Amino acid sequence: MQSILLLAPFLTPVLGGTYSLSSNIVGQGFYDAFNFEAIPDPTAGRVNYVDQATAVADNLTYASDNTFIMRADFTTVISDSSSTGRNSVRIRTNAAYTTHAAVFDIAHMPQGCGTWPAVWETNEGDWPAGGEVDIVEGVNNQGTDQITLHTSPGCTMPASGRQQTGTVVSTDCNTADNGNQGCAVTSTAASSFGPTFNADGGGWYAIERTDTFINVWFWSRSAGGVPADVSAPGSSVDTSTWGTPTANFPNTSCDIEEFFNANNIIINLTFCGDWAGAVYGSSGCPSSCNDYVDQNPSAFVDAYFQFNSINVYT
Ligand SMILES: *[C@@H]1O[C@H](CO)[C@@H](O)[C@H](O)[C@H]1NC(C)=O
Ligand SMILES: *[C@@H]1O[C@H](CO)[C@@H](O)[C@H](O)[C@H]1NC(C)=O
Ligand SMILES: *[C@@H]1O[C@H](CO)[C@@H](O)[C@H](O)[C@H]1NC(C)=O
Repeated sequence: MQSILLLAPFLTPVLGGTYSLSSNIVGQGFYDAFNFEAIPDPTAGRVNYVDQATAVADNLTYASDNTFIMRADFTTVISDSSSTGRNSVRIRTNAAYTTHAAVFDIAHMPQGCGTWPAVWETNEGDWPAGGEVDIVEGVNNQGTDQITLHTSPGCTMPASGRQQTGTVVSTDCNTADNGNQGCAVTSTAASSFGPTFNADGGGWYAIERTDTFINVWFWSRSAGGVPADVSAPGSSVDTSTWGTPTANFPNTSCDIEEFFNANNIIINLTFCGDWAGAVYGSSGCPSSCNDYVDQNPSAFVDAYFQFNSINVYT
């Protein structure tokens, strides 16, 4: 790890830096870069994560030369009382990253009442000590994207003065405080999440993580001003050209290097559970969350991620 850090370009917090392509993940390449995690949902969701063989056999994942689709089951009524819920998929990269930039070109994200999709980074074996960065996250079709850090005790974020376009929601990253609300920032872009994101043809999410800051950006497919190295990925990126991030997490009161270690990228789609279930009653969605998920398979036909690519730079 130390040699990687020494090879990394010198970085300053706001100016960003230049990184070289380390993984170009497209189409079938998702099966090489990721492993499938058929595990019980740690967030108590109404979900049954399946293994790769089941996902492929049931067409819950589908890869062509230039696209990767990952979805929940949308044909089965869940009537077995011993079931943990609707079949879905959770995948995690084999590689783990410290200092890096990553660009997620997403054409579609899961939508629907009860859905809780996420694209995030963590160290599952060392949580929360290794840190967690939620890049794309939200529930029940509602609101805009929420970007959140979760850490062990001792990492907080300033409530103001950050160079970001998003809105500060909470500033204590400690997973043991405030019901694990974390240090959250919401995007002000309506197109950053759910049905509106999909109607616009999706867009790009990007993260830059260094020893001294973490930044997350979002650009809608339909908006102008998308940096060329984001919209047409090549052998390197220069984050200094990416403009003001949606969320900026500085080291003012959080030693980023201490609270974050090598993290994998995880993509998951769960239902209900600790967040989507908790706020379901006030979401305007019908019935109760678990019943709705169990009884209405056709409501989940749009509960899928479609990735054009993920490019990771180090
Ligand atoms: C799904 O992603 C979120 C991160 O946004 C995480 O908190 C949660 O534990 C994940 N759930 C599962 C089951 O992986
Ligand atoms: C599998 O999913 C892909 C992508 O949604 C779709 O194009 C294809 O028709 C599906 N195949 C079957 C056999 O349903
Ligand atoms: C915070 O980041 C700045 C700029 O990268 C660096 O000079 C400073 O030492 C960092 N502070 C801590 C406490 O790590």
